[in-house]
Amino acid sequence: MSLYAIGDLHLHFQSELKAPGQIHGRVWKDHERKFQRYCAEMLTDADTLVLVGDHSWGKNLQQSLPDLQYISALPGRKILLRGNHDMFWEANKTPRLNELFAGKLQFLQNNYYSYQDAALVGTKGYTFEGPFYLDRRGRIIGWDEQTQKHAQKLVDREIRRLETSFEMARRDGFRRFIMFLHYPPTDILQEDSPFTRMAEQYGAEQVVYGHCHGESRFNDSIRGMHHGIRYSLVSGDCLRWVPEKLLD
Ligand SMILES: [Fe+2]
Ligand SMILES: [Fe+2]
Repeated sequence: MSLYAIGDLHLHFQSELKAPGQIHGRVWKDHERKFQRYCAEMLTDADTLVLVGDHSWGKNLQQSLPDLQYISALPGRKILLRGNHDMFWEANKTPRLNELFAGKLQFLQNNYYSYQDAALVGTKGYTFEGPFYLDRRGRIIGWDEQTQKHAQKLVDREIRRLETSFEMARRDGFRRFIMFLHYPPTDILQEDSPFTRMAEQYGAEQVVYGHCHGESRFNDSIRGMHHGIRYSLVSGDCLRWVPEKLLD
């Protein structure tokens, strides 16, 4: 029995078209098939797989159904987090999704799930992604202040959702936490953030996130041990579609 994570499947069974622009390159070729095979080889129905968002390119639930059915047919228990591309998942409709997919998929948002004696908490998160202004050598010398201000509002909202998740688990007696985000916990300029501070405040053992695609983005945020917490980027292309084991 193990806990695994991966993110950013960016499925598009609803359309014959190739996935939109930013997702390209060899690693994405037949990625649905590769991932399905790795899951079949590695996971059993006793395992839990957390998918940290960007599941589907569908523009609404109807369009995303084939993608969600693909995920639901994978072995084990599947817990889904919201990504920025998950248009099928309106923030206030999480209970409805949990009803619709009861017994098949679990949707993590303003709630938590348990794995043995650990609570799986999380939210989509948010990260300021620029625009940044560079000098001739490519060093960052400034950024768009308006966009950053707006980003701060979204970070505040996501922090409240994350706190709800932690508090529900804590009130139910949990003292071990694994924290999931879709966005990286820090932007490329930060060494800590409200998300890393909340992870530290509640004593999370691990912070697991996705969203970063392509070699040049894999080190945009914290990876490895930082202030006693293990940070892992689990975007599918970074893991080459092999689910990452978090706990035995
Ligand atoms: Fe993504
Ligand atoms: Fe994303």
